[in-house]
Amino acid sequence: MTELTAADSSTFAIGGDLIVNRLGYGAMRITGKGIWGEPADRDEALRVLRRLPELGVNFIDTADSYGPYVSEDLIREALHPYDGLVIATKGGLTRHGPDIWLPLGRHEYLRQCVLMSIRRLGVERIDHWQLHRIDPNTDRDEQFSVIADMQKEGLIRHVGLSEVSVEEIEAAKKFFPVVSVQNMYNLVTRQSEQVLDYCERENIAFIPWFPLAAGSLAREGTVLDEVAKRVGASPAQVALAWVLKRSPVMLPIPGTSRVKHLEENVAAAAIELTDDDFARLDVAGREESRRA
Ligand SMILES: NC(=O)c1ccc[n+]([C@@H]2O[C@H](COP(=O)([O-])OP(=O)(O)OC[C@H]3O[C@@H](n4cnc5c(N)ncnc54)[C@H](OP(=O)(O)O)[C@@H]3O)[C@@H](O)[C@H]2O)c1
Repeated sequence: MTELTAADSSTFAIGGDLIVNRLGYGAMRITGKGIWGEPADRDEALRVLRRLPELGVNFIDTADSYGPYVSEDLIREALHPYDGLVIATKGGLTRHGPDIWLPLGRHEYLRQCVLMSIRRLGVERIDHWQLHRIDPNTDRDEQFSVIADMQKEGLIRHVGLSEVSVEEIEAAKKFFPVVSVQNMYNLVTRQSEQVLDYCERENIAFIPWFPLAAGSLAREGTVLDEVAKRVGASPAQVALAWVLKRSPVMLPIPGTSRVKHLEENVAAAAIELTDDDFARLDVAGREESRRA
């Protein structure tokens, strides 16, 4: 039997020096309902995290707002001191209950986010910190300035953005190098195509959140069925194989709270779609995206 490893997805150097296997893991699902509080099965959440390095998954996405704090705390409990792992966290969203997320970009708050993530994760510097959202109610330059300051002070190594346009990436680049962009993207959610193409040209990591459309692309009865049956894979695996083939800067971070699903997702790294299957899924996905 061949080894199950995320290394089959090939590597990408985030910011030119953080080398990771492209198939990563999103740690938002190891929290309670509404991404609020502790997970229903805490032991399984810890098992998922501890299985990551064994499976070659060395890029882990989280945020202070997942739980809030629960995801970062569990990552520390399971994986500190993170030998060979890149923990990419985020800040800039406040939480006021299950499923409620409100941006806050005041410089004092962003600084608090970074300092508290450093404490919770037990590191001296955040390797990869992402602004979760640009706060529309706070001056944009104020948000970018404090991030640039924190990078100069050595609190952050590399900076990423989330849910941004090309114009916003270019505005941020006047303050600091942008090494990653995390936007919603999957086979049937294609609004960020232009941003993805821009990232590819600029060699910026593109981190598609929602790569499985929160599990709905993992079910039968989608555009993925026919290809999945033919290549002997699950629909979730074909959805991940498709995003991996879409661009060499693509770093998908499927989220799961179960070891079984994690292993299934990692196996997608070894699935190579033919150019024909890729193109047919591309067309079907775009059509579905337009209908939605
Ligand atoms: N930047 C942002 O604004 C933003 C927003 C949302 C998410 N994110 C990040 O992106 C990551 C991924 O997004 P996401 O978690 O929302 O969506 P996702 O990865 O598309 O889907 C996760 C859901 O799919 C299910 N699932 C995973 N693997 C499966 C499989 N093999 N078979 C069947 N079901 C499966 C999971 O349930 P089980 O737990 O039962 O496996 C979970 O409910 C998050 O974890 C987070 O790190 C970022």
